[in-house]
Amino acid sequence: MELAPVTIERLIEAARRAQQKAYAPYSQFPVGAAVLAEDGRIFAGCNVENSSFGLTVCAERNAVAATIVAGARPCAVAVVASASLVAPCGACRQVLAEFSPEMPVVLANSATDGRQLTALDALLPDAFHFTRD
Ligand code: THU
Repeated sequence: MELAPVTIERLIEAARRAQQKAYAPYSQFPVGAAVLAEDGRIFAGCNVENSSFGLTVCAERNAVAATIVAGARPCAVAVVASASLVAPCGACRQVLAEFSPEMPVVLANSATDGRQLTALDALLPDAFHFTRD
């Protein structure tokens, strides 16, 4: 699937707005994500940390949850961090692969115009897919 340049910009903008809402008092590492749904809508998420650190939920998984509860299905994602280009963590890669194993992944930051376009199957080759034997 090829993302139109205008769609890439819309995703990055939505992820940047979400990043500003991040709840990251422990890491001070705000992340925003924006999922493009198959129906063209965009759903955002930010990381939500917790004083019980292991309960932290990443921006990507919160964006996926927002997509699903709206009755939509993810087909691309953008991730925005502050200074560096941040690729989704392993857990988020597996959650994204549930819906579209080859989805485009846009990495951007809020400090520069630098960005990188990759694909989920490059980040997570041989993703697990449940099948009954
Ligand atoms: N984080 C994300 O939200 N997405 C990623 O892809 C990597 C990490 C968050 C989790 C935690 O709140 C903070 O970044 C530092 O790990």
